[in-house]
Amino acid sequence: MAMLAPTHVSEFAADVRESLTKPGQRELPSKYLYDEVGSALFEAICVLPEYGLTRADARLLEKHSREIVARVPSPVQVAELGSGSGKKTRWILEALARRQKTYYYPIEISPHALAACEKELAQIDLVSVVGYEQPYLQGLRSVAESRDEDGHLLVLFLGSTIGNFDRDAGEMFLREMRDTLRPDDALLLGTDLEKAVELQLLAYDDPAGVTAAFNLNLLARINRELGADFDLSCFRHEARWNYADRRIEMHLLSTCRQSVRIPAANLRMALDENETIWTESSHKYKAEEIPEMAERTGFRCEAQWIDEEWPFAQNLLVAE
Ligand code: AVI
Repeated sequence: MAMLAPTHVSEFAADVRESLTKPGQRELPSKYLYDEVGSALFEAICVLPEYGLTRADARLLEKHSREIVARVPSPVQVAELGSGSGKKTRWILEALARRQKTYYYPIEISPHALAACEKELAQIDLVSVVGYEQPYLQGLRSVAESRDEDGHLLVLFLGSTIGNFDRDAGEMFLREMRDTLRPDDALLLGTDLEKAVELQLLAYDDPAGVTAAFNLNLLARINRELGADFDLSCFRHEARWNYADRRIEMHLLSTCRQSVRIPAANLRMALDENETIWTESSHKYKAEEIPEMAERTGFRCEAQWIDEEWPFAQNLLVAE
């Protein structure tokens, strides 16, 4: 069962207009990368040899879920922000279901990802799945408000999705999340750690071009849904490492001077040759940054597990 809140064309058009007409660097919000095609391409990215992030995330959950579950209070319900296909979550839910009947609330704006996740996880014995097709905080508030007086929440925010926020916005998001929780509620936060720059660039610009297709699909989506006339052959995917902000940036580079019309956003714009549209940031962390971030946002970092093959940390934060 899913609580539905579809993406409205008018909201999409307004966001596209606002971000493309920002003074200075043009942008597009990364949340719109995930339509049905984008979600499928992201699933493909997750199995690319160059993109070790998802496998590291899953390995840590497979190896440590019993210990993670042993550290959270009872009874507990599980809410997941941006559940994706739900494959990694199976480890946590199976570990919890050994101890109690478990409610699992995936919160996800992509209806396709939500449907895949519900299908993947609904068969686990003693686990009931109720999906929320809502933005993260809105969905989390709905889940938090509907729980019992004595019930605790384990919130999963995996896959280093926190890295797609600017650092300040990420902390603000953690603080807002903390405000919806009770003391001793837990947050399992996955964070991709800094590694050699060449490895990071390859992870976001793979030789098979899957990440390029994922990025370019955003323009194709705007063509499909907002009637725009982006010519995808006049754009190139670019991944950059921003040393100052310690993040990978994805851009779409215009390979010639061109003009584009986006009727539903009431926008006509001219792009210069080599001008870029910035579509996503993926911030990378140092392991020791996480406990500090936790403290600043009303949590304490109870435990941290780091993958041995691909620097990635699973952090168990507890609401103070
Ligand atoms: C969802 N998110 C954590 C991914 C990342 O690594 O920032 C999205 C992604 N973008 C390109 N490849 C993967």
